[in-house]
Amino acid sequence: MDIRSLGYVEIESTDLTKWRKFGTEVLGLMVANNMPDDGNLYLRMDECPYRFRIVSSDKDRLNTIAWEVPGEKAFEQALQELEAAGVSYQRGSQQQADDRCVRGFVSFTDPGNHNVEIFYNMKLDYASLISPVGVKNFVTGHNGDMGLGHIAMPTSDLAASHKFYTEVMGFGQVDYMHFNFSGNTDDPGQGLHFLHVNNPRHHSLALFQDANPHAGDCVHMMIEVEDIHTVGHMMDRVHQHEVRTVTGLGCHTNDEMISVYVETPAGFAMEYGYGGLQVDWATYTPTESAVPSTWGHRWGQG
Ligand SMILES: [Fe+2]
Repeated sequence: MDIRSLGYVEIESTDLTKWRKFGTEVLGLMVANNMPDDGNLYLRMDECPYRFRIVSSDKDRLNTIAWEVPGEKAFEQALQELEAAGVSYQRGSQQQADDRCVRGFVSFTDPGNHNVEIFYNMKLDYASLISPVGVKNFVTGHNGDMGLGHIAMPTSDLAASHKFYTEVMGFGQVDYMHFNFSGNTDDPGQGLHFLHVNNPRHHSLALFQDANPHAGDCVHMMIEVEDIHTVGHMMDRVHQHEVRTVTGLGCHTNDEMISVYVETPAGFAMEYGYGGLQVDWATYTPTESAVPSTWGHRWGQG
């Protein structure tokens, strides 16, 4: 399967106003004015008409993660591969595809019990990003072909999720980490796989072994900006708006991202960083990392 990028996400929210404030005034995303006034909140960051669709709900959680394939042929090929793997999927209706600004999509459930979509041909409107807080650009590649960022998801069965994403979805292995938070030698600990799709971003998906429920049904998402100053200004806005800081500034070992983590209105964390590694996969050798950060990323320190 030729997955090219993390295209869009849908988030359920009990308070769209809170998400609007957080998305625009803290992260610097733009309300997607070209999207229909259908009661949902759409946030954009680049040439794509939106990247975040926030829908009213009685829950605060990540609902859907959507992956892009390059065109109809690749889409039909992807469906054949889902069928061959025994994955039952539902084809979206024309209306649902129009609502997403894509030519077509299917939805299904992954082994971590997350709702996943595969789509093709998002209709770009090329409107300029006018960030309300002056973010010049988000790093998403040419016409958004590196996707909106990356996402880390919990799974109670890491082996099954890893097998699904590498063998059925065609993701590539990038790095593996192992954590033992208790320090007990009889504790099997928790594994974390980092996977890439067919773009240079170091990883688009991370899978974290954890059977416990996660706030907002997600570990974290990441969006990337162009320089340290844009991260610094965002940290000032985090304090100004009294957003909870999850970790202080730090630098990751594997993707070299310099970033902070802050709490979204859905309860999961948003990583906001710059300088993430871009990789030529033809010559890359997968790694196993013993530590997540070369410096910083201290919990609870803004
Ligand atoms: Fe991350």
